Amino acid sequence: MLYLDRRAYTSGGIPRSAGGTRPAAAVASGLVAPLLTAWAPGRVNLIGEHTDYSGGLVLPAAIQLGVTVTVDALSDAVALTSTKLGPGEPFAPDGGGAPVGGWARYGQAVAAELAGLGRPPLGLTARIDSTVPAGAGLSSSAALEVGIALALCAAAAFELEPLQLALACQRAELRAVGVPCGILDQAACVLGRPDTAILLDCATLEHRQVPVPGEAALLVIDSGVERSLESSGYAQRRQELEHALRLAGTTRSTEVSLPQLEGLDPLSARRLRHVVSENRRVLDFAAAFEERDLAEAGRLLLASHTSLRDDYEVSIPELDLLVELACAAGAHGAQLLGGGFGGSVLALVDTARADEIASGVASRYRERSGRDGRSLTAHASAGASVQR
Ligand code: GLA
Repeated sequence: MLYLDRRAYTSGGIPRSAGGTRPAAAVASGLVAPLLTAWAPGRVNLIGEHTDYSGGLVLPAAIQLGVTVTVDALSDAVALTSTKLGPGEPFAPDGGGAPVGGWARYGQAVAAELAGLGRPPLGLTARIDSTVPAGAGLSSSAALEVGIALALCAAAAFELEPLQLALACQRAELRAVGVPCGILDQAACVLGRPDTAILLDCATLEHRQVPVPGEAALLVIDSGVERSLESSGYAQRRQELEHALRLAGTTRSTEVSLPQLEGLDPLSARRLRHVVSENRRVLDFAAAFEERDLAEAGRLLLASHTSLRDDYEVSIPELDLLVELACAAGAHGAQLLGGGFGGSVLALVDTARADEIASGVASRYRERSGRDGRSLTAHASAGASVQR
């Protein structure tokens, strides 16, 4: 059975000095230790793409790459500095005031969502360091949101359950950049466990752990075509699916069966067929992993990619090519990762052959597309946490 994990992020008391702040320069120079550090990982989704926003099933894992937010001092405003992107525009601790631009808008949106849940309006200065490549389909923005949210909560001694925090960050994504994403990325970020994927019902948020077999390597191969959900057809797909669900008389894709698609207009039938069949594949994939049947898991990945390409129409030729090359090089199967329209594919390969398959795919991809095809092996890893 799926179950709801009720771990809470305890924030404890962060002592505020009499003046309310500590000189950031002294902290950065190492003279004063940081107040706290929040860690929020990126994710891979093993299977279950474009199912989350219709209350469907997903099977993600948090990965070893992520965002570290180091809080140096409490302050009157929230001032964040990214090691890669430089200082972000400061904003009010409750996320109010004029909207800031650039990457800091994610932080402002998170602060506004947390204020709505009752977080005391305490500001801070923090450094942000990310090892998640942007646009590769590894949820760099969810990691940023969750990292900032954890830091803001911990600094204000404000407690939220992990999934409540994830939901706040999901709403922040919509508020910041207008992307109506589902809960997949933020939930994976807070629920991750080492060597474990999370089977999550996105309607009830019930979940259970599915061990990743040691002999299975999760190879992420980047097409080099940067994906931006803001400008992709993501919102359009969501609208099309919601329309199809209305025709089927429900809001939850797990309540639809394939025979119900008969009689729908062709577009609605295709969109819904992907989601209904994908929900089934998620359960079958989890069972295959539990039986350590990588051949069957790979077959399901390929079926998933075909469905995403033909029925949901979120693939691009570069992703199709990577899937083809990965399978030709010996992967059990592969599918596009995340929202599609660019980014990466996830290939399931034998651990012992991961390096050989990665370099084989990269050289063939370069020959065929003129692009690099960089890859990394994702390790299912622990979820978000705070350290003092
Ligand atoms: C993006 C979104 C997720 C999910 C995936 C597709 O990553 O942020 O909510 O919809 O696409 O599965």
